[in-house]
Amino acid sequence: MTGKRKTLLFRRVHGRIPPGYLAEAGRLISRGGVVVFPTETVYGMGAAALNSAAVMRVFRIKGRPSDNPVIVHVADSGQIGELVTRIPDKAKSLMREFWPGPLTLVMRKRNVVPDAVTAGLATVSIRVPDNSIALALVRISGTPIAAPSANFSGRPSITTFREAVEELDGRVDAIIDGGRTSIGVESTVMDMTHSIPILLRPGGIPVEDIRAVIGRVDIHPSVVGLVDRPGPAPSPGMKYRHYSPSHSKVLLFERQERVGASMSRAAERLRRKGYKVALLVTDENRIRKGVIVRMGGRDEPERIARTLFSHLRSLDRKGIDYILVEGIDEKGIGMAVMNRLRRAAAG
Ligand code: TXA
Ligand code: MG
Repeated sequence: MTGKRKTLLFRRVHGRIPPGYLAEAGRLISRGGVVVFPTETVYGMGAAALNSAAVMRVFRIKGRPSDNPVIVHVADSGQIGELVTRIPDKAKSLMREFWPGPLTLVMRKRNVVPDAVTAGLATVSIRVPDNSIALALVRISGTPIAAPSANFSGRPSITTFREAVEELDGRVDAIIDGGRTSIGVESTVMDMTHSIPILLRPGGIPVEDIRAVIGRVDIHPSVVGLVDRPGPAPSPGMKYRHYSPSHSKVLLFERQERVGASMSRAAERLRRKGYKVALLVTDENRIRKGVIVRMGGRDEPERIARTLFSHLRSLDRKGIDYILVEGIDEKGIGMAVMNRLRRAAAG
């Protein structure tokens, strides 16, 4: 983390960001500054992608390990020719179907893309965000924008302007207000460098939808497996513990018949030991006792995804020692939700 600095807060006026603010934010980016901005998934911490020094500042501010590459955001698919050597046919199909949107594609990079962005890999990950502020920022700054999620490394991602200000005021050059992001979990990351593309991270676009467009997709073992496995990780971010609140510990209860009863028993045991406990459950869960936060219905994974990180953050701020979370089915965006919860609970 770097020292304190003055952060410009670009707030919405009548629900919109005044054009003057966007122009100023774009100028900051083009001069090597660091700007936090909304996307449709989570807030990003952006810098000019072809400016190594600017990208390295993002790593320092986040406390991000330098071997974890970041996603490059562009305003339309025409902009990626300068970044990649070749666009595979299946990547073209996915771009047509899902961009702008929460899908990130990993392809072979050109030399202009600095090692700071790709962590020295031969590939670069790219997406076109489906958010008018993010798109305007890329256009006005005149450069692709490298942006990891805006949270400090290892913490839950940021999905509201308020959370961004709480965490980052005084650390970045500007924060743009986009209210609450619409999806709430990060983009799906697909490695397109193999003839059978590989899902590296489940996210906003369900893998079922991707298969409907390009057929077979392999799922990388670490998507469902454990964190901190030995050996090189294909998507380096996957080897780190992630999405964890700073104080609270997360305990995940996988979906099963009597999940409510086993959560109640566990909560009671922890309370007897003097811990503050909260329960993050679906609307159908019959649990009644204690601090209970309802995430949404079991058949509404989109709703659950939208506020998941905010719930983890706000319970953490309340000083809760243990957050007991009810798991959901891994269908659709539920796969991304469960992936984030397993990681938050690891360790
Ligand atoms: O929705 C999102 O994707 C958000 C918004 C801001 O766009 N961004 C985001 O970035 O989640 P980040 O840095 O938190 O996650 C990027 C993920 C990491 O798991 C990283 O390892 C992987 O993408 N990644 C980036 N470049 C890669 C590459 N060249 N090869 C494989 N994995 C890569
Ligand atoms: Mg992240």
